[in-house]
Amino acid sequence: MADDASRAGDRYASADILDWCADTHAPHDAGLAQAFDARGAGLPPIQVGPSEGKSLGLLVKMSGARKIVEVGTLAGYSAVWMARALPADGHLWSFEFDAKHAAVARKNLDAAGIGDRVTVVEGAALDTLASIESEGPFDLVFVDADKKNYPHYGAWAAKHLRPGGLLIGDNAFLFGRLLEDSDEAKAMRAFHEDARAHFDTVCLPTPDGLVLAIKK
Ligand code: SAH
Ligand code: DHB
Ligand code: MG
Repeated sequence: MADDASRAGDRYASADILDWCADTHAPHDAGLAQAFDARGAGLPPIQVGPSEGKSLGLLVKMSGARKIVEVGTLAGYSAVWMARALPADGHLWSFEFDAKHAAVARKNLDAAGIGDRVTVVEGAALDTLASIESEGPFDLVFVDADKKNYPHYGAWAAKHLRPGGLLIGDNAFLFGRLLEDSDEAKAMRAFHEDARAHFDTVCLPTPDGLVLAIKK
């Protein structure tokens, strides 16, 4: 597209503006603050930001999702946002490879008051997703784990989401490396392109890109 065709590509968001907006729209209570502090629990601080977390919660509410699958739990921060947005009879199954991360997340989810609405499933998600397939079809799948397996998680979502269900993928810009000639970049591009075949899709320009897709 011609550079002068639109101002839509200009970036006006400074760090101060982004912080002000997060504080205004996505403030933390004690439960969110505890789950956000992955580093304090000895985990890597790689959770979504507050504005992305709030966006996930709003997407749960807007879509009326009742059955959610998350791939990549970490300390449970995105899970707290999504589970709190569920109706009383809703459930979130969150898949986590690392036993320490899963233990921290369970503690944080209990502290946030939604432990009964979330099941943290331990192990490599490609091996464990099958264990919940009888609970499907699902309303929303959030993918935020090992990047090389994104195409597999997308394919699982295409199969196990209901028509109209949402697929959301974090780190869709692959830390800025999306267009490189690496296996991880090829996998992330395949995730985008495969999603387009089965979903109505967009990639939202969050700090690291968020694919948002509705199952056809
Ligand atoms: N969604 C979380 C952040 C997840 S970070 C939040 O925003 O709060 C990515 C997580 O995926 C890490 O905890 C990592 O251990 C986990 N992970 C990596 N490979 C995985 C796999 N194969 N199966 C399940 N989880 C995996
Ligand atoms: C990293 C960030 C993420 O959002 C993620 O899901 C995994 C890793 C990172 O910065 O390394
Ligand atoms: Mg992520």
